[in-house]
Amino acid sequence: VATCFNTRSLEGLEIHITAGPTREPLDPVRYISNHSSGKMGYALAEAAIDAGARVKLISGPVNLATPAHVERVSVTTAQDMLHASLEGLASCDIFIACAAVADYRPTSIAEHKIKKGNEEIMELHLVKNPDIVATVAASADKPFTIGFAAETRDVLSYAKDKLARKKLDMIIANDVSQTGIGFNSDENAVTLVTTTTQIDIPQTSKRQLAKQLIEQIALLYKQSK
Ligand code: CTP
Ligand code: CA
Repeated sequence: VATCFNTRSLEGLEIHITAGPTREPLDPVRYISNHSSGKMGYALAEAAIDAGARVKLISGPVNLATPAHVERVSVTTAQDMLHASLEGLASCDIFIACAAVADYRPTSIAEHKIKKGNEEIMELHLVKNPDIVATVAASADKPFTIGFAAETRDVLSYAKDKLARKKLDMIIANDVSQTGIGFNSDENAVTLVTTTTQIDIPQTSKRQLAKQLIEQIALLYKQSK
């Protein structure tokens, strides 16, 4: 029997979610990016709408339709994503950083297509991008701030380190060493970590996982108030 229920656990709340990869241009025809599909962030946006939230989705370039009722802001670079994330924070109750932000960008963008030279080795100079979720967590309007940690080893210890370093309220730890889950996949398994709790959510579809995450987030958000 298919049970269709709606808890409306986020009624009256506003959620901002970053999703997908960022793209860092090198010249007019090339960029540095990653394989993030955006599926987890989009699934969270849809689950948050179903739970009654107002949702702003700050999205890098992905091949996904915008879920119904979601306000989507399309961005390209990490710097664009930062600016879009800092806008409207005053009305944001919960911020979820699901995007796979490029850690570095080229120090400069060539005005014209870079030509192949005679040298066999080419060096690129990169500069660190701003940390979006840490900047949001450090803002005067700090919402309940949630990050993701995709790791291939020492998953929980790296995740806890990021929770503390970025001053997050929660981190969703994701072991991406196993194939078939996480990055660019349809399924995922995670551990939700706060300073006081640790909750395992076993492998399931990103859609189901998003529903479970949204219910846990709603609960922990309300406990924090
Ligand atoms: N994040 C962000 N801005 C960045 C880098 C990461 O907002 N410039 C966010 C991601 O969206 C995620 C969390 O920070 O929610 C952790 O991202 P991750 O790449 O795991 O952390 P880093 O601090 O970049 O560390 P590393 O890549 O070295 O593991
Ligand atoms: Ca990173």
